[in-house]
Amino acid sequence: MKPDIHKEPGGGPEGPLAVVLQALRLAVEPLSGEVLAARLGLSRAAVWKRINRLKARGYAIAGSPRRGYRLLAATDKLLPEEILLGLKARRLCGPVHHFEEVASTNDLAKELAARGAPEGTLVVAEAQSRGRGRLGRQWNSPPGTGLYVSLLLRPPLPPTEMPQITLTTAVAVARALKRVTGVAPGLKWPNDLLLAGKKLGGILTEMETESDQIRHLVVGLGLNVGNRAFPEELAAMATSLALGLGRPLPKNSRLAILKAWLEEFEDLYERFLARDFPGILEEWRSLTVTLGQRVTVRQGPLTIHGLALEVAPDGALLLETDSGEVIRVTSGEIAG
Ligand code: BTN
Repeated sequence: MKPDIHKEPGGGPEGPLAVVLQALRLAVEPLSGEVLAARLGLSRAAVWKRINRLKARGYAIAGSPRRGYRLLAATDKLLPEEILLGLKARRLCGPVHHFEEVASTNDLAKELAARGAPEGTLVVAEAQSRGRGRLGRQWNSPPGTGLYVSLLLRPPLPPTEMPQITLTTAVAVARALKRVTGVAPGLKWPNDLLLAGKKLGGILTEMETESDQIRHLVVGLGLNVGNRAFPEELAAMATSLALGLGRPLPKNSRLAILKAWLEEFEDLYERFLARDFPGILEEWRSLTVTLGQRVTVRQGPLTIHGLALEVAPDGALLLETDSGEVIRVTSGEIAG
């Protein structure tokens, strides 16, 4: 079934559901339907409906309207009310659209963008049936183990700035992972996140332009978090946080990483809009595993060998080829 993106989330999940959830979280004793209704300015029927909706979303809630409700356990799904709870972001903070499974969160975000969704709109899925990577590849997206998220941006800038946003996104992911796990991934130009030399995640940035301006831009992030294994064709080159760190991750790590990413990205995005990409690039340089390495760049049928010298102020890779010529690489990828 195609997810219903016409239903606006604003009046539902993040609004009244979040306040009921928060009241239950803070309560030291069961809260009756009557008390909840009075406290939240809702009718008792409205409270009952919202309790049932929370249960349907996976929260374990015990009790009845008269005996009172008690929250026994939260869900580890990436639900809007969990993402927005205590999120320290003012700009990149929803609306959040959460789905059990979609074809691709980037595709949905693009659809929402075309309908005028605001900057900060977030599409999150527990699984993707046709997750897309760069260069037409598939993105392995099994349920519940990974982070599959797309963020809508509307920077008032020319399309030439898109590569800089991809690098900025990668720095935000590195900061978020460092904050949550203590370990920052290595950044491989332009969009790969590595752990112990294997691919931990990637970024797919897609845009729509209009008379030399970005109309909207969708930043898609795929991160392998709890995966214990990969399909055979990926096993040699892919890793997850759980595998790479060699220790089990706390239950809600995906949520913690997503929230940290939004907060860090907001900080960097505001700096980016204030024309401080040079400062962000400095940080990217401190995290990259690409510069100073001999690399093979693949651009369609073309293969170029050389030394990765530097990243130019616009985000292009400067490569010294084996013939000694320095070329700018703006598309393609580094093999291996
Ligand atoms: C790459 O390394 O090739 C980029 C991978 C990007 C995958 C993410 S998962 C969320 C978003 N939706 C997609 O279909 N792709 C991106």
